[in-house]
Amino acid sequence: MQRQIRPEDVRLGMYVCGFGGSWFSHPFWRAKFVLKTQHDLERVQGSGVSYVVIDDALGLGIVDQAGSPPVAAARPVPVSIRLQRPERSAQVQWDEREKALERSDKQQAKALVSRSMKVLRTAFADVRLGRAVRMDEVTAIVDDVVGTVDRSPRTLLEILRLKSKNEYTYLHSVAVCTLMVNAARHMGKGAAETRDYGLAGLLHDLGKMGVDDAILNKEGKLTEAEFLAVRNHPEHGYQVLSQSPNIPEAALDVCRHHHEKMDGSGYPFGLPAEAISLVARLGAVCDVYDALTSERAYKNAWSPVEALTAMWSWQGHFDQGLLFTFMQSIGVFPAGMLVQLRSNRLALVLENKRRASRPRVLAFYATRDRQFIAPEDVTIQDNLANDSIVAAADPAEWGFADWDAMVERLLRGDGPALAA
Ligand SMILES: [Fe+2]
Ligand SMILES: [Fe+2]
Repeated sequence: MQRQIRPEDVRLGMYVCGFGGSWFSHPFWRAKFVLKTQHDLERVQGSGVSYVVIDDALGLGIVDQAGSPPVAAARPVPVSIRLQRPERSAQVQWDEREKALERSDKQQAKALVSRSMKVLRTAFADVRLGRAVRMDEVTAIVDDVVGTVDRSPRTLLEILRLKSKNEYTYLHSVAVCTLMVNAARHMGKGAAETRDYGLAGLLHDLGKMGVDDAILNKEGKLTEAEFLAVRNHPEHGYQVLSQSPNIPEAALDVCRHHHEKMDGSGYPFGLPAEAISLVARLGAVCDVYDALTSERAYKNAWSPVEALTAMWSWQGHFDQGLLFTFMQSIGVFPAGMLVQLRSNRLALVLENKRRASRPRVLAFYATRDRQFIAPEDVTIQDNLANDSIVAAADPAEWGFADWDAMVERLLRGDGPALAA
């Protein structure tokens, strides 16, 4: 049963499933989780939320001030049994519950993907037949994506990375929708704008329905005519969408402009940076990131780190500031990048093959004192970070003339010698 309690009454072992206030006013990226560590507990209690919602069927129930057994109304028997168990066994129980929740998140995400495939197949077929897009059905999918992202952002993205050749365009559309929603949430956008960003992602490649599948999946080089057909998809999609009722401006914009580049070398118009809107710039980032991390007929899937490393190095393609915001939103950064931490330190992003979603960095420089410090290996946790990555830093601006050589020295463990 769900109950609202005061933050100061929260205890370790409780299953937290909501907070008083907006999604952004609490420091956790997951809105539902079992409270396992003292550090989590302190963050909940210090978060300033007006109340916390717990579910005592999934975790510890309400405990009175002395920490004695829970109030009678809160499922007394199972909760008191839980309380009497030794700590280790409670830990195992929490882990099992977390796993069960992850499993159910996965099942729900898979069901959402198959629902959205059906809707998109129909929407894209309608476009082929010259009909308008049925916005109510498409919007319902976006609302489902928003709900799933709020609950468990990575689950849906993990499932969507595995794309079959035949269904690529549909799955890619749902993936770009998810990335846009996730980024919009990270940027603090409200519900209406988040939904528009999601719709823009879902519909950005609608114009591909005007391009032959054989061309879209072709392994070899495209002929001039095929190339032109592909390059026409933003404009074709835009024309179809603009004839459909109730299409938000963001969706029209992203559909038409997601292949424009900041240096003006994109298509279809070769727009200069100042003529490309924020949402279209974000569309370009999400689109390319998903394409690179997907397996295609002509290439293997790149890892998220490989994709972002490449994208960061492509001068003139993306809005670099927005690309960095995107990295923060998915919690993945290119290895070798210089970043600034919330703790006023500069750090080198390290490789973290084991768990790419938890970046590891080597903090080595205090920005306030402008001094090298003894290097410290820091793991940036998803939700409970003591520290976080707040900005990309330019090595040259900090006087690190030969950044590559410095990276090598840091990796060799010569950190303190850098000060010399
Ligand atoms: Fe496209
Ligand atoms: Fe695309």
